Amino acid sequence: MKPIEIAKDIYWLGVIDWNIRDMHGYSTPYGTTYNAFLIVDEKIALIDAVKKEFADELIDGISQIVEPKKIDYVISNHTEMDHSGGLPRVMHKIGEDKPLYCSKMGLKNLPRHFRQKWNYQPVENRGELTLGKRTLTFMETRMLHWPDSMFTYVKEDKILFSSDAFGQHYAGLERFDDQVGDAIMPHAKKYFANILLLYSHLILKLVGKVQEMGLSLDMICPDHGIIWRQDPSKIINAYVEWSTQTPKRKAVVVYDTMWHSTQTMAEAIVGALGQKGVDTRSMHLRCCDRSEIMTEVLDAGAVIVGSPTLNNGLFPTVSDFLTYMKGLKPKNKIGAAFGSYGWSGEAVKLINRELEAMKFELIGPGVKVQYVPNDQCIEACYQLGQKIADALS
Ligand code: FEO
Repeated sequence: MKPIEIAKDIYWLGVIDWNIRDMHGYSTPYGTTYNAFLIVDEKIALIDAVKKEFADELIDGISQIVEPKKIDYVISNHTEMDHSGGLPRVMHKIGEDKPLYCSKMGLKNLPRHFRQKWNYQPVENRGELTLGKRTLTFMETRMLHWPDSMFTYVKEDKILFSSDAFGQHYAGLERFDDQVGDAIMPHAKKYFANILLLYSHLILKLVGKVQEMGLSLDMICPDHGIIWRQDPSKIINAYVEWSTQTPKRKAVVVYDTMWHSTQTMAEAIVGALGQKGVDTRSMHLRCCDRSEIMTEVLDAGAVIVGSPTLNNGLFPTVSDFLTYMKGLKPKNKIGAAFGSYGWSGEAVKLINRELEAMKFELIGPGVKVQYVPNDQCIEACYQLGQKIADALS
């Protein structure tokens, strides 16, 4: 990709990963980008360093603007390998002795990844670095989404380099929000639901801090996906809404099935929810990826989980999903369990235990049936759906 000048003497130098379909368990059907940026001032600074496999592409991009050895400073906003994997190659090209600015946690984490004695320059929260006409301000953003994460802000241009925050896993030739329009929002939502949801409280705190600091923002440049320049407040407002986790009158019925019995139960519950006007998603765990399901869970008021009992336990895909959802700590949900069994029937109890551990409000003990649902079981599922719908009112 050719570098793109996003503001005077500030360049996007990202690379597009069209082919990635799985990012540590998160499905990326649209690929992603790893964004890096170059600021050319009296001193030249590179912000972030893309994934290892794309390091030469980044160096190529830099060379189209300046001789790589002319870079004075490298800023590492985040240690995760998709933004730092290219560092060894980049540092080798620009000079191993060049100052490498990072957060205090970055100082711990970068050597643990690369075992290199680079010229680390840990920065204080709100510490500054002057490039000439411009000054960079660093803001620690611990756990957004690693302990080492930080933002870099250029006050003269009102640009925030936000690392993972406000990103989207979306590979495309468009570089800016105004080129994609609202079509980018589902990608941003999925990214939030699967990467940042558990840090919602920190996001609300951070947004409060940014407002308190009176930071003006003309542009937000995340490390993945498009740059927000037309309306940066749109993504900030979306983050506030998603972080608040106000439940909608929406239900997600997520299940797996062996011989269609649990599926038949799911269909009865979905039917009852639909009849009561609840916005309902029916998600079979071997048809929908867990990260797609989490995206729907984000703003749902109810999550109803179904599993057959397999070998005295949960069906493996259901265990996988519950473990994944538990880690992301969704809040303000009601829940229920259902499932069929042959002879022991532990699944409903096990789901309930997990939902309670997630602090979901359980709507009843759940519905279970031996082998194949009869009319009585279908009626019980239907009533469960109605009760959930009433609880969502
Ligand atoms: Fe895109 Fe936390 O790395």
